[in-house]
Parts: sequence; C-alpha cells; structure tokens
Amino acid sequence: KLVQLFVKSNLCTSSAVASEAMATLSKRGQVAVVTLTNPPLNVLSYPTRASIVQSIKEAEQDASVKSIVLCGSGRAFCAGADITEFTNPELVFKEPHLIDVTKAVEACSKPVVAVMHGTSLGGGVELALGCHYRLIHKAGKIGLPEVHIGLVPGATGTQKVPRVMSIPNAIDMITSGRHISAKEAHKMGIIDKVLEDDYMEQGVAFAESIAGDPVGPRRVSQMPVKVDETTPMVFKMAYEKVAAKARGMYSPLFCVKAIEAATKASSFEEGLKMEKNIQTFLAISDQTQALQYAFFAERAVSKWRVPDGSASYKTAKGQEVKSAAVIGAGTMGVGITMSMVMAGIPTYLTEQNQQYLDKGLKMVQGILAHWVKQGRMSEAKAQQIFSLVRPTLTYDDLKDVDVVVEAVFENMALKKEILKTLDGVCKPSAILASNTSTLDIDEMASATTRPDKVMGMHFFSPAHIMKLLENVRGKDTSPETMATAMDLGKRMKKISVLVGNCPAFVGNRMLAPYSREAIFLLEEGALPNEVDQVLEDFGLAMGLCRMGDLAGLDVGYKSRKEYGYIQREGQEDFIRKGERYSPLSDWMVENGRLGQKAGKGFYNYGKPGGRKPAVDPEVTQMIMEVSEKAGITRRHIPAQEILERCLYGLINEGFKCLEEQIASSDEDIDMVWLYGYGWPRHTGGPMYYAKNIVGLPKVLERIMFYHFEHPNSPYWKPSQLLIDRVSEEHPHASKL
Ligand code: NAI
Repeated sequence: KLVQLFVKSNLCTSSAVASEAMATLSKRGQVAVVTLTNPPLNVLSYPTRASIVQSIKEAEQDASVKSIVLCGSGRAFCAGADITEFTNPELVFKEPHLIDVTKAVEACSKPVVAVMHGTSLGGGVELALGCHYRLIHKAGKIGLPEVHIGLVPGATGTQKVPRVMSIPNAIDMITSGRHISAKEAHKMGIIDKVLEDDYMEQGVAFAESIAGDPVGPRRVSQMPVKVDETTPMVFKMAYEKVAAKARGMYSPLFCVKAIEAATKASSFEEGLKMEKNIQTFLAISDQTQALQYAFFAERAVSKWRVPDGSASYKTAKGQEVKSAAVIGAGTMGVGITMSMVMAGIPTYLTEQNQQYLDKGLKMVQGILAHWVKQGRMSEAKAQQIFSLVRPTLTYDDLKDVDVVVEAVFENMALKKEILKTLDGVCKPSAILASNTSTLDIDEMASATTRPDKVMGMHFFSPAHIMKLLENVRGKDTSPETMATAMDLGKRMKKISVLVGNCPAFVGNRMLAPYSREAIFLLEEGALPNEVDQVLEDFGLAMGLCRMGDLAGLDVGYKSRKEYGYIQREGQEDFIRKGERYSPLSDWMVENGRLGQKAGKGFYNYGKPGGRKPAVDPEVTQMIMEVSEKAGITRRHIPAQEILERCLYGLINEGFKCLEEQIASSDEDIDMVWLYGYGWPRHTGGPMYYAKNIVGLPKVLERIMFYHFEHPNSPYWKPSQLLIDRVSEEHPHASKL
C-alpha cells in the first residue's frame, strides 16, 4: 500500500518536489533530471528504490527526453543501502530490490548519466554502475565498504567493478572498502569524467552531448572482464595477501572469490548467481552478525549515559572548545597535540624545559613531514596545521584555554602538583583533564578547587592514530564536563567511550588478567611465540608478548612499581600482595629487555627499533629459570587452554566493570577493545563474543574451573553479574 501511495504521489507530481518523494523528476531542456531526495545522504530505503525505478520509467516514456541525469540532493549522491532496514526484513525484502533498480536503470533505452558528489558508498556506487556514464565532482569520493559489515557488494558490485577497471584494482577497491578520491577513481576507470564545482551544469551539458548515442556498448553488464594468462596468478597472490590481512575474517576472501567468479563465469548472469550465493552464506554467518553489531555499537557509544541515569547525551550540553593546552611533550603529549590541531583547535604545548619542548615540536614536525611524504596532505596544509601548535614554557599563556590535558609522567604527586598549578592559572570554566592510564581521577581532582571540571581523557598510543578515547568521569565530574570531553573526542574523530573511575579504568583493567595469564602460561610451559600464535589465530592484531614489546615493557614495570609490586630489582617472590605473581617481565626489564625500542624484549628484533620478532634463546632460557624457581614442572599447554585463560579472565573483568557501573553497556566495553587493543571485529568484541559466539554458560563454567585451579589469582572469581545473566538465560538452573 505504501509503495502504491508513494509511486502515485510521485507520478502526480513528477516535475515538482513532492515532500514524500524520495526521487523527483524534473526537466532541463531535453535532459530529464532524476534527483534522489532522501536526506541527508539519500540512502536506498524502500521508497527511494521504488521511486528511482518509477522516475526512470517515466523519463524513458517521455518522448521529449533524450537523455537522463541521475543525481542526489544534499550532502552526497547516495550513501548506499539503508542499514536500518537490515533489522526490518519486511522492508529489506520489499521489491524492487537494489539489484532490480540497477537493472532497470541499465535497461533504459536512453543514456543515463550518474552525476555524483560527496561520498558515494556501497549501493550508491552500484546504482551508478547501473548508469551508462559516471561523472563525479572533483571533491567527491567513492567506496564499497560492504566488506566491513561482513558482506560483498552484492547488488552487482562484484561483477561490474572488474568490468570497469583492472582485476588488481577491483580486488583492492572491494576488499579494502576504502574511500577513493575522484581523481584516483577516474584513473582506475570506474569514473568517466571528473567535474568542477558547477558539476550539475557540467553533468547536464554532458548528458546533452551524448543524447541519442547508443546505450548498448555502455551497459557495464555487457562489457568483458579483462582476463589473460596472468589472471590465475593474480588471484593466487590476492588470496594470500588478503588472508594475511583478514585475521580470520571471511568477507574479504569471499569478495575475492566473487570477483574471481566474474572472470570464470560464462555470462554476467552466471556471475551474479555466484555473487548471490556468496551473499546468502555471508548474511547468515556469525561473523556478519558480529560485524553488524559492531557497526551499530560504534554509533551507540556516542549516545553516552551514566549508568545511574544521572546524566546522558540527551540531558547534558558541552562547552565550546576554542583552544586547548597539553602539558608534557613526550610520546603521548605529542600525539594528543596532533589530535587537537588536526581537529583545527589551536593548542599550547608545554614542557619542563626548552630542550624537551624542542624535542616534542620536532616529533610533531616529523609526523607532519611523514604524512606529506606519503601524499596524505599537502605541504601547505601541514604548515597550516603546525601553525596551530603554540609552544610555551609559561603557564600564564594557558589562562584563557578551554581544556587542558596533562600528559606528564605517571606519578600521582607530580600530576596533583600540575593540576593545582593549572587550577590557579586557568579561567574558572576551563576543564582540566588527565591522560593517566591507571591513576585515581578523584584524588587528582582533590588538588583543585573545581573537581566538577576534572576528568580523565585517556588516549591510546600513538594518540594521533589510535581511534579510542576513554573519557573517565570522577565522582564530582559535572555532566557538562562529560559532554565537553565526549564532543571533543568526536571532533578529533575518536571513538569516545565514557567510563567510570577505578584503577586502570575499563581497557587496562581488563588487560590486567589477560597479561597476567599470558605470563603464567609462559611459566607453566608455553613460549612467547606459542601464546602469541594462538591469540593471533583468534584474530587479535598482536599477541600479548608482541604487544608488550611494542608498547615498551618498562611502561608496565613502572606501573607495578607505583602500585608497590616491586620493591627491589631481581625480587624472587612468586606470591605478592597475597596473589600469584610472576617476576618474569620485571627481570626482562631489569636486563635491558624493554621491547622493540631496545631491540629485544620477549623477542629479539635485531636492532633497537627493529620490527621483525625472532625467537630468542636467551628469553627461552630465562623462562626455564623462572619455571624452575617457581617450582613448576613445565608441560605442554593446549591451544584451547591458552585461548581460554587469556580471554575468559578479561571477559570476567568486563562483567565486573558493568556490575560496578564503571562501564554502561556491553557495547562500551566492546568498542574499547576493538579500537584500543586490536580485538577482532568479526567477533564483535569480548562481551559480544562471550554472549553470542561462545555462550555465557560455557564461559562461566570455564571461569569457575580456572577459579578452582588458580586460587591465588583473584580475578578468576566469577562476576555476580555473569552468574545472574546465566541464571536469567536458564531460569531452571537456579532452582535446582
Ligand atoms: P613520556 O615519558 O614519553 O612523556 C612525559 C613527558 O612529560 C616528558 O617529556 C617530560 O619531560 C614531561 N614532563 C614531566 N614533568 C613535567 C612538567 N612538570 N611540566 C611539563 N612537562 C613535564 O610519557 P608518556 O608515555 O607520554 O606518558 C605520559 C602519560 O600518559 C602518563 O600518565 C602515562 O601513563 C599516560 N599514557 C601513556 C601511554 C603510553 O602508551 N605511553 C598510553 C596512555 C596513557
């Protein structure tokens, strides 16, 4: 009924913009202009799909029309499928499907010219591939991001893209899902012409110029796929390359498979069948469900709320941030400054002395120069960004800034002293934030007269690249301060997650049981490469030992010292503070094995800063000695045990974060792990994985088992929330 009504309304008002119409038809001389009008991004919701088909049909039937322009109103030509329909099968399955729309456009007997602007994605690009010509504004971009939600471009994309560009380019475009600039897309072959700022005028003029030309040779489905004797080798190499990058995710490999089908099928239709089969399999797979969960979770975390309901994105309004300051120009301070200035915020950077400040500035310049060299930005843009960095050694300069982030050494006394100084200097409305990774935000706030304006802004290293920002609310932090930090994160293009104040917050708190178990596994019989292999096979970007080496093993060492676990070098107790403790990592640091930067850590990297890890017999020897001193008889540890012990303790801690209202939702925790620790996206995140892939009863059973096996590791005590959730799922269990 809705479609009939809709089409009717469109027919009646074919040359005017009807408010319900999602595509409108107007005329410019002999050119019909079909404009998508589904703001803001013209996604292909059911009414839009129906309306395009109808408008094209109407234009074709109009004898005065010689050619047709298909374009979009608003910010972009078309951002693809309406993914909110994914959860509403009634709409997804309502005809015309996108594939029918592309067929209807291609079948049109009059030339149809896509005139694109903004970022055209997924189905939007497939729609354009249904057109006989594709033109794009010079600032426009195109991309096929379906791979990121576990799918292939399944509305002809995998079959048509290799017909308009080389096979290696098609594989790159579809498996990476990256956004491609107008210029590059033109070079690849998918775009026929790049347009200047008056793109609509130029588009209409182009349509006039090809009026009456035969459309047959312009139908992409009828074009040949360029194959030759090298094609099998191209695919062999592509499978290897894509598999190595995919870390266990299927969809990139199936994208290659679908493109390969285009090269092998006897006809376009036969290739389409293969594309459909692949899409059907992927759509129902666990991985796709997890990837789609992650897609929505990523958007959900920006809609923050405090678990007790006292504040949320709906009720709190952030302050405007016109300028900022960063204290400390070390590893983190430089990255944070970069994030600020990249977001266009003038930022003061200060240090202990001129020498350290110069060193920090050099690091900023180095990053910008590297990006210029890579072609990521022009020299002029880099200079403009650098001009926003305001080096100073005088706190007085900070009196008018809106936000300060301190990033000095991880030392409570020093941080309190700095916050106290800032409190005296900065205007009363200024927010004072700390980048601490573990320390108590409330204690820091107590050094100021404005605890409502103090919070943690925990960036991850390297801060200008890592997308995660944990915004930590203290007990007195005001909703306005939380909103400002969350807005600021968004401006810096971070995934910002609001968390509560506790030692190490959410991410590093969950990391603690994981890293402890990984080291205990070494003590009990495994080697670093064996532990890492299991974790990397699971899909983590890096195993624990490699990650430690990259971050620097001294970081954890300093923190253990700060928390009183290490009193003297070479300490040999295997129980500390009443808990099982392995001194292995401490001994490594005390022997100069600080990780990659020292050229040796859990692995040998050949030289300081080296990147290729090699098994080091010296480390193996150290591990044997630790086992012996701990009185442990080494044994073979199965991969399943390695995985469970590394991941389930971490998951249990996640439940405790929820239980204690440190995190607000499963989604918050999952995004912290996806964006801060390289957790494999196709398993959704630790909480999603536990709930939907392993199942909570199984996770609880194994946590119970390890709790009995390892009584001196308190983190194995099962979370009450986890037990409650399992009882809810199995109400009969608690009644037995
Ligand atoms: P870093 O040692 O590289 O840099 C600290 C900088 O602070 C040094 O350049 C030092 O000269 C400067 N500084 C010390 N006292 C100062 C003062 N009174 N005034 C101005 N500058 C002063 O340390 P990093 O790694 O950058 O860490 C900084 C903070 O960020 C710490 O709280 C750390 O826990 C936290 N963090 C570190 C991460 C990492 O991976 N390195 C990740 C997330 C947070």
